Amino acid sequence: MGIRIIGTGRCIPENILTNDDLEKMVDTSDEWIVTRTGIKVRHIADKDQTSSDMAAVAAKNALDNAGITADMIDLIVVSTVTPDYAFPSVSALVQKKIGARKCPCFDIEAACSGFLYALNTAYGMMASPLAYKRVLVIGAEKMTSLVNWEDRSTCVLFGDGSAAVVLENDGNPDTPDFYVAGEVAADGEVSDLLIVPGGGSAMPATVESVTGKFHTIKMGGPKTFQLAVTSMVTACRKVLEKSGVSPEEVVWAIPHQANRRIIDAVANKLGIPEKVYLNVDRYGNTSSASIGICLDELNREGKIKKGDLILAASFGAGLTWAALLIRW
Ligand code: COA
Repeated sequence: MGIRIIGTGRCIPENILTNDDLEKMVDTSDEWIVTRTGIKVRHIADKDQTSSDMAAVAAKNALDNAGITADMIDLIVVSTVTPDYAFPSVSALVQKKIGARKCPCFDIEAACSGFLYALNTAYGMMASPLAYKRVLVIGAEKMTSLVNWEDRSTCVLFGDGSAAVVLENDGNPDTPDFYVAGEVAADGEVSDLLIVPGGGSAMPATVESVTGKFHTIKMGGPKTFQLAVTSMVTACRKVLEKSGVSPEEVVWAIPHQANRRIIDAVANKLGIPEKVYLNVDRYGNTSSASIGICLDELNREGKIKKGDLILAASFGAGLTWAALLIRW
């Protein structure tokens, strides 16, 4: 069909929170965090820096990288679990901040799988009779706005950031699509494993909900770990099977950067440990920005060339999980 990724961008907040800093906040150690998660530092947004601020910077960088201007965008899709507001959407705020013409825009909430859900959705809308020509897909997260800084089992894991890609349909049937095969999945039976209980219609903000820290992340760590590995491996295998591509043909594997041990387990089960791109040590878990940040780093560092096959996989609250085989 001719739908390609023509540009990537990211926004990484300047402030850095190290494991040494966390040692001063909770009963933890650099040694524990590095051994159990692989995370060394994470970037933290300023108090007044919102998800849409980071999304707009990532979007502008992606537009520059693509060599196009915001008024050429036909649709904006943002994935986030940390919107600036319940409404309006982050995508509407981005449309205003980057000066895109009045194109449709909406947010997707599939937690850490959101970037791959958004790419699947955008591709579907471009390939459908809607026929959008240029689409901006963004993952933007201020995860630290949901962190309980007194809970050592979760506060060491997350960081902030945003990433964007520009998709374009060049209308040339001889141009291979970036989208080779995809898989999106969910299991709501385990929705309480990873949850922010407060702030929604189930528990609107009250003094009690705030003092009880119900507006922060609650997580069953070991069970999430286990499901993360099995779900990402299953999704990757399905995508490889659907596409008829062998693991050997994959040039880069980009797993969601939540925990180095999860990544290693997935890569070993798929038999492609040497193909894995890693930056969890520098950013921690940036939720739906994670895979896009990896893509932008690979792109800007010239580590991917035209035609390379990239296998991306993610999992997150819901539970949701997804995999996508991308042809660069
Ligand atoms: N520093 C020191 N000790 C810590 C700690 C920290 N930051 N966090 C937890 N511990 C302690 C626990 O209290 C527990 O102590 P105990 O044995 O005295 O009860 C011990 O370490 C082991 O805890 P456990 O939860 O079994 O550790 P783990 O090896 O499973 O690692 C996670 C914990 C959170 C790192 C791991 O379960 C994980 O990464 N899960 C997936 C999380 C994830 O990716 N979530 C996002 C999904 S998108």
